[in-house]
Amino acid sequence: MDIVEEIKQKTDIVDVIGRYTSLKKAGKIFTGLCPFHEEKHGSFVVYPDQQSWHCFGACGTGGDIISFIEKKENLTFPEALQFLADQVGVVIPSKAPVSDREANSRIISANELAVQFFNDQLNSSLEAQIARDYLSKRGLTAQSIAHFRLGYSPKGVAELQKYLGDHGYTKEEMLAAGLINKKDDGTYIDRFRGRLMFPIRNIKGQTVGFGARTLDNSLPKYLNSADTPVFSKGSLLYGLDFAKDEIRKQDRIVIVEGYMDVIMPHQFGYTNVVASMGTAIGPMHCSIIKKLTKNIILALDADQAGEQGMIRTVPLENDIDNEIRMVTIPEGKDPDELMLKDSSIWPSLIDHAEPLVDHIFTLTFSQLDMNSVAGKSAAVDKLCPILSNINNPIRQMIYVDKLASTTGIDKNAIINRLNQNKVVSYSTQPVEKQKVSSSIASRPVESFGLSILIRHPEIIDKAEELKEEYLVNTENKEILRYLRGEIEELNPLLKPYYEELGENTKADGLVEDKLEEVILRLRLEFIKKSAMAAPDLAVNEGRELEKLLTDKEKLASRNRSYYGQKESS
Ligand code: UTP
Ligand code: MN
Repeated sequence: MDIVEEIKQKTDIVDVIGRYTSLKKAGKIFTGLCPFHEEKHGSFVVYPDQQSWHCFGACGTGGDIISFIEKKENLTFPEALQFLADQVGVVIPSKAPVSDREANSRIISANELAVQFFNDQLNSSLEAQIARDYLSKRGLTAQSIAHFRLGYSPKGVAELQKYLGDHGYTKEEMLAAGLINKKDDGTYIDRFRGRLMFPIRNIKGQTVGFGARTLDNSLPKYLNSADTPVFSKGSLLYGLDFAKDEIRKQDRIVIVEGYMDVIMPHQFGYTNVVASMGTAIGPMHCSIIKKLTKNIILALDADQAGEQGMIRTVPLENDIDNEIRMVTIPEGKDPDELMLKDSSIWPSLIDHAEPLVDHIFTLTFSQLDMNSVAGKSAAVDKLCPILSNINNPIRQMIYVDKLASTTGIDKNAIINRLNQNKVVSYSTQPVEKQKVSSSIASRPVESFGLSILIRHPEIIDKAEELKEEYLVNTENKEILRYLRGEIEELNPLLKPYYEELGENTKADGLVEDKLEEVILRLRLEFIKKSAMAAPDLAVNEGRELEKLLTDKEKLASRNRSYYGQKESS
């Protein structure tokens, strides 16, 4: 039996899921409120026989216990597996071959010895006086220096080599650890010389590399460790080992750019701050962060608030399923300088961080002459590709509205542009897992059904079979609720779309017949999707599915032209 099967078999699915939502036995199955979305009536089912679950409500998804934990605990597959394995006492053999693991642990231990060496140098070597002076000039306390384990790398070409050599490390190991360089003539030279050393630790607190600041204006300003299997800037956040508890506690992470911009806030008691080390945050950072919090605040100084970096960050909002906010530090300061000048304004700066997309809007409008036609059209050109990357339909619509009202350009024209602009997202989620894009014209059958009901409210009773979960598009669901009188007022943002739907004259004539067809098509699509998510269900619902398939045959011969667009089922 493979390990995945073993973990699944040892796990009691009803027991585990029962910790997240209370389940009631109903014959062979258990039902309850779906733990993934707000609901009043239980549409969530656990099938102990098949070891599967399914939400027949808004989620319309299902799976096994592993996918449940992935979703609920926000974990990747291997992490979810580990989570369950720990609970049932199964030991998962590590995938990395023993030799790799040993090599990585040698890299880490060499780096940790280097921390010791550089720190000793900083504290006691004569040569390091320049570094000690520099640190005191920059306002770092002895506690901060000790806490972050700063150091000094001597100018000699083989000082660290000698120290590590004395501790049993070979040149090859030092090279693999990113601590020395090999010269053309085959000799080795210490990578870091005459620099202030910032040890970079992973979330577990293991030192995996260094950032090294010049003390004499030589370039680069910061020299970092070479990439190794345990060191890459894209998946590390400086200071995270010290910040993680506070991030969880405050449910908020503040991301700055530089090493000093982390140390200073920590020195002043703001300990949920980490640095992305000079680059924009990426998907790998996000997957680490989202286990701690969904609330990300970027605190950048005005120079570093690079526009391209900000734009590339927007799709990450889909990954964390929340908007990212940002502050620019006033007066061209960076967080480190701000702390020294007036640390007390930090909390209110952070509290007033602005949503990233709003910030990009403001910046764009300020760069263009928004009274001219050319300026307005340039704003649309620039902002549409950004908006097309927002997967949350309501949020996207709010920004479409804002763009329309600022430019005076028709909202529908902007929506059309968005559909053209839909570009491959930089986000880590596979496309099929992402929420439906808000391109509100992308669900022709759904919209057609609503057009019928808007134009012919007298047949609303005939739409009983049109279950909300058959609709994928959030806006459409909302309109259906409104038509049924389940909500009193339609969100004003949805009114233009509602009116547009009401203009479709193809929704007239033989309306009951058309409505029936729409419902069948949507239902068929829904059941097929459910069966895909949890194949076991196909058995339970086989009869129904079969009947629907026959109905579909019937449908195939009908005229479908009134959808305006073909929809593949
Ligand atoms: P900055 O140039 O803004 O430096 O780079 P800083 O952090 O404010 O440093 P001080 O205050 O002058 O000492 C921000 C971050 O970008 C990365 C480093 O992580 C740095 O902290 N960086 C910058 C590099 O990796 N290499 C460089 O050459 C420059
Ligand atoms: Mn700085």
